[in-house]
Amino acid sequence: MYTEETIQRIDHPGGTVQVLQLTDTHLRREAGGTLLGMDTDHSLQAVIELARRERPGVDLLLATGDLSDGGAEPAYQRLQGYLAEFDCANFWLPGNHDERSSMEAATAGSNRLSREVRVADWQVLLLDSQVAGEVGGRLGEDELSFLESSLESAAAGGLHSLVCLHHHPVEIGCEWLDEQIVTDADAFFSVLEGFPGAKGVLWGHVHQQIDREFLGLRLMGSPSTCVQFAPGSPGFKADDLPPGYRWLELHPDGRIDTGISRVWDVDFEVDLDSGGYL
Ligand SMILES: [Fe+2]
Repeated sequence: MYTEETIQRIDHPGGTVQVLQLTDTHLRREAGGTLLGMDTDHSLQAVIELARRERPGVDLLLATGDLSDGGAEPAYQRLQGYLAEFDCANFWLPGNHDERSSMEAATAGSNRLSREVRVADWQVLLLDSQVAGEVGGRLGEDELSFLESSLESAAAGGLHSLVCLHHHPVEIGCEWLDEQIVTDADAFFSVLEGFPGAKGVLWGHVHQQIDREFLGLRLMGSPSTCVQFAPGSPGFKADDLPPGYRWLELHPDGRIDTGISRVWDVDFEVDLDSGGYL
């Protein structure tokens, strides 16, 4: 249940907040496990090395779902170890491949699954779009009312908001992925429309870069730290773009600067002819 005590506050001197998003890490139960031929521990470690080199001074790291490929607790334990290389707090939300009970067991005693973070002039919300047993996403009444009450609280405090979830709330032009869109996205945007302090929506799931503006919001979908999916493909299709991450700069006036970066200097194996992925 949402209470004021569930809010995590990050010490910050004020000014621009530096955020990293790592998403869809798809770690298998055992280190060295693969997804479409790619060693997902190896690709994540390469992305972390790149991000640490390119983005020193990160304030907050967000991991936006499909953190494990099959919900195995050892995968989450390894993820905690890998992310400990960053000298900042990290927060996770679940994707369709995740198992909440395993995430909770692996992160017990930490605040890693908190749903609201406040840092400088910003509120960051972490929503759960997972539907048990389904690939596609839905927020549902509880998440939408949490969103609304949290945005009200941020507005009262003069904060800007960044809203994170796993699934995409807008169609992206890949038919097979657009069947998995957040089914109550209209209700989601109706809530957001009522709050001018809501500035951005950030998600994973689509394993490709999306950058758009809609209703005054920055909409951001991001590459996976492992295999990518081909933009514009009607059916499942892996892409040969390398693993990557997204960076965001959250400014005191509510502006968001953002971009993605990829690991170009490592050869990753990937089975581009694979016909499917679930
Ligand atoms: Fe994924």
